[in-house]
Amino acid sequence: MRHADTTLGFEIRRLRTEDEFDAALALRHEVFCVEQGVPPNEERDGRDRGGLHLIALQDGDVVGTCRLVFVGSTVQFSRLAVKRDARRQGIASAMLRETDAESRAHGANRIVLHAQTYARSLYDRAGYVPRGREFVEADIEHIAMEKLL
Ligand SMILES: CC(C)(COP(=O)(O)OP(=O)(O)OC[C@H]1O[C@@H](n2cnc3c(N)ncnc32)[C@H](O)[C@@H]1OP(=O)(O)O)[C@@H](O)C(=O)NCCC(=O)NCCS
Repeated sequence: MRHADTTLGFEIRRLRTEDEFDAALALRHEVFCVEQGVPPNEERDGRDRGGLHLIALQDGDVVGTCRLVFVGSTVQFSRLAVKRDARRQGIASAMLRETDAESRAHGANRIVLHAQTYARSLYDRAGYVPRGREFVEADIEHIAMEKLL
């Protein structure tokens, strides 16, 4: 528990239990499939069991989640979602900081991700740079970005 931001009322940490895993998957379904229209079979891509999942907790509820998959010295970061009524409090930014800490702790030297272009400033502000052109994935405009650690 490196980011226990009690002043802002949330905590970022790895998930610990199957119930928390289920809550993280339910949040992803709500955000990506219901809100953004991503097909469930694309959202659940078969890589969850091999990943490291972070969650954001607020008042005992899982209000944020993201996934890190380690491939050699690179981290593939994805599935960043924050519950609609918990947004713009810095929760995603705190999860990106914790991702840096986890990645370094695992000896990784690079984090890569596909950012939705509407939220690009989130990643710009966290030190990510673009590494290619914009493209469409699941009908949503994205850009590949990376951060060297
Ligand atoms: C994108 C998302 C994860 C951001 O979570 P959040 O906790 O609200 O983000 P933060 O509060 O840390 O935002 C930090 C900065 O990111 C940028 N940002 C966040 N949400 C944004 C939005 N909807 N539009 C534009 N910029 C945004 C802003 O620069 C923001 O700073 P500000 O609040 O001072 O303006 C959240 O809106 C979400 O779950 N969206 C739906 C799923 C999604 O798009 N996931 C990201 C895939 S790349």
